[in-house]
Amino acid sequence: MDTATLIIHSAAELVTCRAPDGASGPRTGKVQGELGVISHGAIAVSDDRIVAVGPTDDIIHRYRGENTDLVDASGKTVTPGLVDAHTHLVWAGWRDEEYELRLKGATYLQIMEAGGGIMSTVQATRLATETELKTLARARLHRMLAHGTTTVEIKSGYGLSLEDELKCLRAIRDLNIELQKEGTGPRIAATFLGAHAIPAEYADNPQDYVNLIVEEMLPAVAGEGLAEWCDAFCDTGAFTADQTRQILRAARELGLHTRLHANEFASVGAIEVATEMRAVSADHLLVMEPEDIEALRAAGTIAVLLPGTPLGLGLKNYAPARSLIDAGVPVALATDCNPGTCPSENLALMIALACSLMKMTPAEALIAATINSAHALERGDHIGSLEPGKLADIVIWDAPNHRHLAYHFGVNLAEMVFVGGMRT
Ligand code: NIG
Ligand code: FE
Repeated sequence: MDTATLIIHSAAELVTCRAPDGASGPRTGKVQGELGVISHGAIAVSDDRIVAVGPTDDIIHRYRGENTDLVDASGKTVTPGLVDAHTHLVWAGWRDEEYELRLKGATYLQIMEAGGGIMSTVQATRLATETELKTLARARLHRMLAHGTTTVEIKSGYGLSLEDELKCLRAIRDLNIELQKEGTGPRIAATFLGAHAIPAEYADNPQDYVNLIVEEMLPAVAGEGLAEWCDAFCDTGAFTADQTRQILRAARELGLHTRLHANEFASVGAIEVATEMRAVSADHLLVMEPEDIEALRAAGTIAVLLPGTPLGLGLKNYAPARSLIDAGVPVALATDCNPGTCPSENLALMIALACSLMKMTPAEALIAATINSAHALERGDHIGSLEPGKLADIVIWDAPNHRHLAYHFGVNLAEMVFVGGMRT
């Protein structure tokens, strides 16, 4: 038996997020609300892995060695590191004026049609160097980490030319290598989102841009191994279902997995494409019919909900989280961190919004932001819950129980954050 390098002990609640029945897939239905809490719990870590979780006395007795670091979590809540499964972290320039325009009544789609929106961030991002983009993204990642997020998915999508999309994806790759070397950052997973908007220069020939994605961008991205997934914004004012299908099909042929921005503003067939292409996740889902929910359930697609986005847009309609969970669709939560609709790096705030605005329970929301998000990133077998053998990505929250993560909102309760057993 190993002695532990680290034991976090005496937690008021040690929230394991392990499945009650030992099942390994994403949590659905009633099980989405089961946290596997150990009261007065402890966790033993050896190097970067979890070796055991259990009652404090037992863990200390079995795993404490001469060199074990002991961290007292009395009165606190301990959870797996949060997993943010949908962000657009690589961008330059802000869009705060658009925010104010929206407060005065302009809509996101009107601003986009007038040449603002995504394209204004594209202009600023094209002007930035890879090094500048890395510096900007690094600061955002550290803010995420400080708020308890230990794994982050990052999309490209503000380059929208072969060269600029590659620049953004290389910035993500290099940042990941640097952070892993330093041992200080969150883990990163990359998504190619060349299909984020039709760039202005292709406004009259959108199909030419789709062809560019299929014929040049995707082969280059796959050739350099720069992304695990291909995403597309399949919505009104963005890509049609047919264009999306063409892009995702090409991505799959190159070995990429897929995910989708679906039904944020309108239902244009994105759910059908997502299920047909076996997308790992369909994200946003503000505009949903009962048959859309049933289609996601039948396909096992994970619904990644982003409540910060309607909040940032000042919309009143949120994703139907209750209907999704009650129907048996696995629900995950993410920030969507981007300069247009939700610049927040705080995933714990999304847990609060999910509860107050979408009527998820604090337990469901916490599962959504940990193990279900880990599954949305196809990493459910090594992160997302506190179980022996998994990576020791752990947060100690200044909270007497898990409910406080939603209830005591708007401040940072993350007190200590560990990535692979190392305090950050
Ligand atoms: O997920 N919907 C498309 N993409 C982003 C917004 C990007 C932007 O406005 O810059 C989103 O909300
Ligand atoms: Fe997004």
